[in-house]
Amino acid sequence: MDTSQQMDANRQAWDHAARSAVGQYRTKKLVADPNALSLMVKTDEPFLLDHLPDHSVAGLDLLHLQCSIGTDTLSWARLGARATGLDFSGEAITTAQRLAAEAGLPVEFVESNVYDAVATLGAQRFDIVYSSEGVLCWLPDLAGWARQIYGLLRPGGLFYIRDEHPILRTFDFEQTDDVLTVIHPYFNSGQPHQYLEQPDGDVDSLVFEWPHSLSEIVTAVLGAGLRVEALLEHKFLTWLGLPFMVEGESGTWHLPRPDVAPLSFTLVARRPAD
Ligand SMILES: C[S@@+](CC[C@H](N)C(=O)[O-])C[C@H]1O[C@@H](n2cnc3c(N)ncnc32)[C@H](O)[C@@H]1O
Repeated sequence: MDTSQQMDANRQAWDHAARSAVGQYRTKKLVADPNALSLMVKTDEPFLLDHLPDHSVAGLDLLHLQCSIGTDTLSWARLGARATGLDFSGEAITTAQRLAAEAGLPVEFVESNVYDAVATLGAQRFDIVYSSEGVLCWLPDLAGWARQIYGLLRPGGLFYIRDEHPILRTFDFEQTDDVLTVIHPYFNSGQPHQYLEQPDGDVDSLVFEWPHSLSEIVTAVLGAGLRVEALLEHKFLTWLGLPFMVEGESGTWHLPRPDVAPLSFTLVARRPAD
């Protein structure tokens, strides 16, 4: 299989996953409560706002890359952003459009591969490009990804990503005791890790993930011409990544011994003003 076939297999798996997300209690609650925000956006908002002149996303054009069923995109719209979500899963985009209509929020959702984002969105440019947990491992080429982000931002615009820390993907996810065992590569050799997943419980989907080290991520962003404003490593995730994690008061998940390894990271970078 070549890279585009591998991404296509991933897209099919995400279509299955989007179908299984329909009707989830958390999604229903988010749509029904006009003040509700996704856990992801509640977590990211304080970090992101620190980089905005008015400490607010209100009135800004925000593009959410790899938005899935759009729960974070809707949340940014609730905070006043003119939000657009982009994902290559047609099922996810259809669900996101339905959720936005149910929530009465004017959010635009676009079906596109990240690598075609500039071409798909035409002349549209954004004040903020945002991406959150669970995104980079699905992308084979970070230099190409970062070039898209540069092209999507207005001069002076901000890129914000909080994703799983690259070290997390090296651990054995089946491990049940509080020992972190490294079984997957940290560095990207170009060879994806492939495995079978059952996102909706009955269909086996073949998926492909690419490891990306922290330096590969930062180098891609710098190489595209963005200026890094912050790089943070966090001791939390917004989902139960390893079976022995413990839930904190804010709903995020931590290691029982939080100091032993980072679980997520934030990278903030800006397209220089012309
Ligand atoms: C783990 S989900 C992201 C979830 C997001 N953080 C959220 O909470 O809504 C990963 C998403 O990336 C999308 N994706 C993976 N590869 C992609 C690509 N090459 N182009 C566009 N979307 C992609 C998948 O369809 C999926 O919706």
